[in-house]
Amino acid sequence: MFEGKTILTGVKPTGTPHLGNYLGAIKPAVALGNNALEQGGKHYMFIADYHAINAEKNPEVLNAKTKEIACIYLASGLNPEKSFFFRQSDIPEIPEITTILYAYTPKGFMNKAHAYKAAVDKNREAGKPDDDGINMGLYTYPTLMAADILAYDSDIVPVGKDQVQHVEIARDIAGAINAHYNKELLKLPTYYFDDNVAVVPGVDGRKMSKSYGNVIPLFEDDKSIKKAIFSIKTDSRPMEEPKNPDEILVYEIYKSIATPEQLKEMGDGLRQGKLGYGHIKNMLLDAVIAEIKEAREKYNYYMANFNEVEDMLQKGAEKARPAAQATLKRLKDAVFSR
Ligand code: ADP
Ligand code: TRP
Repeated sequence: MFEGKTILTGVKPTGTPHLGNYLGAIKPAVALGNNALEQGGKHYMFIADYHAINAEKNPEVLNAKTKEIACIYLASGLNPEKSFFFRQSDIPEIPEITTILYAYTPKGFMNKAHAYKAAVDKNREAGKPDDDGINMGLYTYPTLMAADILAYDSDIVPVGKDQVQHVEIARDIAGAINAHYNKELLKLPTYYFDDNVAVVPGVDGRKMSKSYGNVIPLFEDDKSIKKAIFSIKTDSRPMEEPKNPDEILVYEIYKSIATPEQLKEMGDGLRQGKLGYGHIKNMLLDAVIAEIKEAREKYNYYMANFNEVEDMLQKGAEKARPAAQATLKRLKDAVFSR
């Protein structure tokens, strides 16, 4: 389905990714990009640092998070030679395109956009005025995202559920511009949402999320990963008591990482009262470490040699810019009749 298509993904450099992010977003995004490349498509993967400044004002933190994200994607198999891999802020055409898109962005779209609405809801819950602490960057967030998407003539934007609406806004803006100038100035993008990617539960049984503090860390040392895994909620039933694996959190987490054979082994052991909680936690630990071992080594290498990564990002921006320049030119030619 990706034959000859342009796939684009943006990732905000905020938070430190956890195992849930890796299994639910990072790994599938890299696989999808590589798959598209194999089918003769193009793959853009960029770090949305302009989007991040709405919330993060500390330059050192921003820089550290950008570094971390870049190294995580490279360690997870992104090929910077084949994919376009760069920072959003290294493409000066993006804010220029955004300015043109503003003229075609109904304010009502922004009022309804999910990131802004979530911030308003939070203020209301806290008894604060609706727009307390909300800056224009957050408010106009979807237009900048539309510029990201439209600049490189993206066909498909793989997203999590919460971003679907933003891709639809990009499509609507592009449609309005094309209709106004009666020309296909901008490619209409579609979103791609993978239903098969399961939500990984955290150590307390809720969705693994940085906001719940229930995460299994990603590229940390074995000791930290072990600590998190051994904190997974269990009960006091003895090992011999046969158990329904589907009611056991360790098994639920194992589902997102184990092979069918490994899963069967744990399931049978629990049903037959042959595996205790210590055993199954060790099995999960082994599977997590096996999954991340190689990537973690690469991650540590890239973090220690970030000059190499910086070089890749700069080269990536150079490669990506011509498409954005061409889009900006098409827009300016039409808008100003030049
Ligand atoms: P968090 O909930 O930790 O704040 P984000 O909302 O920043 O995570 O999610 C970033 C990406 O990771 C999204 O694409 C999201 O769908 C994915 N993701 C987050 N948590 C999980 C999880 N527990 N299982 C699977 N995917 C997840
Ligand atoms: N808004 C996205 C997020 O929070 C990040 C993003 C910015 C993006 N620009 C994009 C995603 C363009 C896809 C396409 O996750």
